[in-house]
Amino acid sequence: MSNRVRTAVFPAGGQGTRFLPATKVIPKEMLALVDKPIIQYGVEEAIASGIEHIIFVTGRGKGAMEDHFDISYELDATLEKKGKHELLALSRSVSSLARISYVRQKEPLGLGHAVLCAKELVGNEPFAVILPDDVIDAEVPCLKQMIGVFNERGGSVLATQTVEGPGISAYGVLAGAQDAVNPRIYNCTGMVEKPKFEAAPSKQAIIGRYVLTPRVFELLEQTTPGAGGEIQLTDGILALLREEKVFGYTFEGRRFDAGDKFGMLQATVEFALKRPEFADKFRAFLKGLEL
Ligand code: G1P
Repeated sequence: MSNRVRTAVFPAGGQGTRFLPATKVIPKEMLALVDKPIIQYGVEEAIASGIEHIIFVTGRGKGAMEDHFDISYELDATLEKKGKHELLALSRSVSSLARISYVRQKEPLGLGHAVLCAKELVGNEPFAVILPDDVIDAEVPCLKQMIGVFNERGGSVLATQTVEGPGISAYGVLAGAQDAVNPRIYNCTGMVEKPKFEAAPSKQAIIGRYVLTPRVFELLEQTTPGAGGEIQLTDGILALLREEKVFGYTFEGRRFDAGDKFGMLQATVEFALKRPEFADKFRAFLKGLEL
C-alpha cells in the first residue's frame, strides 16, 4: 500500500437546491466565481497540493463538468483560426489540468455513499476528499497543509473552523481537545453530523476537506443512514475513530460556502478584489456605492 496521498475524490452528485433557480439545468459546481467554475478552484487546489488523480463522483445532468475539463476541439480550432492565442492557451490549460476519472452515484444516498462510490478507483491507499462548494483561499493550499499533518501524524485529518452560535447545526461537529504541541491540531474523540445547537460537542465544525485512510471505505459499507436519512461521511469517520487516530485541523486561510447564494456573493467580492486586471476599478466601484 502506498502511503502517499495521490488521489482526491470530489463528490459532485448533489442537486444544488440551495442555488435554485440557477441550478435547475446548470450543475452547481459549474457556477462561475468571477470567471471560473467553482469546481475548478478545488481541482487547482488539489493539483497544487500534489494530487495526481482526481475522481469526480457525479450524477444525472452533470455532463457540463466533464466537458469543461475535456478538450473543446471546436472552440480550440475557432480560437486558433482567429489567432486568439491567449484564449486558446486558457481553454487548453483547463483540459490539461489533471487526470480525471468519473464514477456515477446513481441514487442520492448521502455524502458517505458518494465517497464510497470511489472505492474501486482509489484502491488501498490514503486519499483526499474535496467538497467543491467549499472554496478556500489560502497562501499554502488547504489540502497541502492537511497532507503535511497526515504525513507527520499518520492519522486521518479533517479541516475544521470555529463556528459560533446556532449556525453550527449545519455542519459535522468534532468532540475532543486541542493538541498540546500544535494548537491547530485537534485530537478527536468523537463527532456528530448536524447536531442541535444545544447538543453540539464543541465549536469545531468540519469543513469540506478530508485526508482519509482507506479503511473508511469498509466502514462506510456498514454505515446505516444517519442525519437526514442519508449515509453520512461523518458517521463513517466516527467508526474509523474507534480504530485509528483522527485529527481536526484548523487550516490557515479563508473558506467560502459557494454553494450558498450569500457565500457566493462574499466570495465574488473577495476574489474580484484580488484580480490585478480589475481590482482597482472594482474597489473604486465598491467605494462609490451608497451603503
Ligand atoms: C457536509 C458534511 C458536513 C460538513 C459540511 C462542510 O455537509 O456532511 O459534515 O460539515 O459538508 O461543508 P453538507 O454541507 O453537504 O450538508
